[in-house]
Amino acid sequence: MLNQPMLNDQLQMMLRQMPKAELHIHIEGSLEPELIFELAQRNGVALAYDSVDSLRKAYAFDNLQSFLDIYYAGASVLLQEQDFYDMTAAYLRRAAADNVRHAEIFFDPQTHTARGVPLASVVDGIWRACQDGPISASLIMCFLRHLSEDDALATLEEALPLRDKIIGVGLDSSELGHPPEKFARVFERCRQLGLHLVAHAGEEGPPAYIETALDLLNVERIDHGVRCLEDPLLTARLAREQIALTVCPLSNVKLRVFADMGRHNLLALLDAGLLVTVNSDDPAYFGGYMNANLLAVFAALPLGLAHAQRLARNSFAASFLAPEAKRAFLAEVDACFAQL
Ligand code: ADE
Ligand code: ZN
Repeated sequence: MLNQPMLNDQLQMMLRQMPKAELHIHIEGSLEPELIFELAQRNGVALAYDSVDSLRKAYAFDNLQSFLDIYYAGASVLLQEQDFYDMTAAYLRRAAADNVRHAEIFFDPQTHTARGVPLASVVDGIWRACQDGPISASLIMCFLRHLSEDDALATLEEALPLRDKIIGVGLDSSELGHPPEKFARVFERCRQLGLHLVAHAGEEGPPAYIETALDLLNVERIDHGVRCLEDPLLTARLAREQIALTVCPLSNVKLRVFADMGRHNLLALLDAGLLVTVNSDDPAYFGGYMNANLLAVFAALPLGLAHAQRLARNSFAASFLAPEAKRAFLAEVDACFAQL
């Protein structure tokens, strides 16, 4: 049928097989209910749910905050360095199965240090799993925007001995009412330390948050950013400056940023010339890892092979990999599509 979105076998195969990078994954959001229960038992932590099934049933969200409440409760089972290692190793294995070749992994230090977990246990556990493969991976430390900037500054100070294990910092948690400018000083300090800078903006928050993240925090990428299309001047700027937007389709539908996948604006973002990537955000909570996100959005929108190649290329182009590694991965993407 004319103009009917179609996910044919060849397109499905390419979405699965193409090499890709994941740039927006909260490692705590990869914690599957089974592992939550295993770690709760290992660490003697009491959970508010009596089974894996009842926990999974609670994964019905009205908005970002309703998700965050459950997500922080799930993270409460993480206590020992080995817990962080096991969680990260499980994600990396799962990502590799989707032909993710490189991941830039967010973690939320304050979620753990507030419970008395040493920051070194968090960073070393995640970092050690990344060193053990099976894919290339690096760490981005996110500040929780519902907490104060002083708390973020104290966290940064605590992280200084671990600086070499972190490539950048980000900003996440409850967006509305916590604009980027609240964190201008801590981001400036991170910039001076040579860290890469990213921030969640324009997920639930207005396009103005995208603008202040760029102008006052000097971020290099925007996480989500889907609300940019409400502001044509901002959209034109993002296209002109090729600022990457790390978009997460299943997350956006689960958190009701869009009513359903057919209403997602991924194609409109691509058509506006933006450097968009597809990512999984919190895959254990939102119903799927990288390829599930690609398959869901390609099934719902009139996207084809050229879009798939562009998204795979964007994922490496927008990464913080060194130029030689980027070139090699981009050549692999092109070789994969040249076989067709
Ligand atoms: N933390 C984990 N997932 C998040 C999201 N989608 N937005 C903001 N903070 C988060
Ligand atoms: Zn996120």
